[in-house]
Amino acid sequence: METSKFFSLVEEFELDEGYQKTYKSFDEVLPTLFPRKGWWLDQLFHYQGFWLSSFALRGSMLLNHHFKPRPTDVIVATSPKCGTTWLRALVFSIVNRHSFDFSDHPLSKKNPQELVFFLEGAIYIDGSTSFIDGLPSPRLLSTHLPYSLFPTSMTDDTSECRFVYICRDPKDVFISKWHFANKLRAKDLPPIALEEAFDSFCKGVSHYGPFWDHVLGYWKASLESPKKVLFLKYEDVKKQPWDCVRKVAEFLEVPFSPEEENKGIVEGIVKLCSFENMSNQEVNKNATRNSERPISNSDFFRKGEVGDWVNHLSPQMAEALDQITEQKLQATGFNFR
Ligand code: A3P
Repeated sequence: METSKFFSLVEEFELDEGYQKTYKSFDEVLPTLFPRKGWWLDQLFHYQGFWLSSFALRGSMLLNHHFKPRPTDVIVATSPKCGTTWLRALVFSIVNRHSFDFSDHPLSKKNPQELVFFLEGAIYIDGSTSFIDGLPSPRLLSTHLPYSLFPTSMTDDTSECRFVYICRDPKDVFISKWHFANKLRAKDLPPIALEEAFDSFCKGVSHYGPFWDHVLGYWKASLESPKKVLFLKYEDVKKQPWDCVRKVAEFLEVPFSPEEENKGIVEGIVKLCSFENMSNQEVNKNATRNSERPISNSDFFRKGEVGDWVNHLSPQMAEALDQITEQKLQATGFNFR
């Protein structure tokens, strides 16, 4: 059983009583949760309707007990493999467009993960929220956590922080996840078979799954609170990236001026964040993995296409997944088309 290393964290960082309580309750909750094998042989725990790693669960608990939201916070939210890297890059370049020149942009030197920090990880750098508390406003943070696991201090009407969410056709998400899981698996393990991963995904057992519940949580929130949650589809962004860039800018209350439009800033952002441009940056070609960081920058760029599932799923598998999707979305008013 994994533990939070409660005592060593508390001792090493001399954390105050509040943090001690949170780590203690994490250590108490974890053994009570039903664990399942994750796709790269980590464990997933069923917590409040979702399958989370212990890392994500600890992040969520700290978020709920210690995070101090600011009205200017922007949360880039996704279920894994829906285009997190892309959305991070888009939001970063839209919000910071006055600070940088496209010919010498931070995105050409840094992976978007270094510019838009991963909330559930960054929240306990040094054991506490001190790193995140020290970031200047507006804070751009990224998350895979379901909407329902956020504190009401961030989701209710009194809070002004905003969420930009992107979803994607589950068949493409599954294929992207399966490739990613096999990159992450230890070298001495055989790859996870497509059929095994498919079975888990269909049952909802994948990081931050069930996938459909994750999407529907943000979808409903975007209907109820359109000023708080912007809901995008990967396929739409691919088709009309300029419209999406304008939509995000308007949502974040930093619309493009006629002068910026004339200067081609929108087109510049679309080009800067395109799969072709980003995957060709030296920093994103880096394929170094080690025990400290089992994921390399290059792992986040594979094909970047719509409909690649057709090259991997049998017609029967595709139909089965479509049927599950139809069932899950029944009477919700939402579809992936
Ligand atoms: P594929 O595996 O289908 O190629 P995430 O960033 O959430 O981990 O999602 C990864 C998926 O987004 C991968 O999909 C990856 O190739 C794709 N991706 C990464 N950068 C992208 C970009 N700039 N434009 C479009 N897709 C991108």
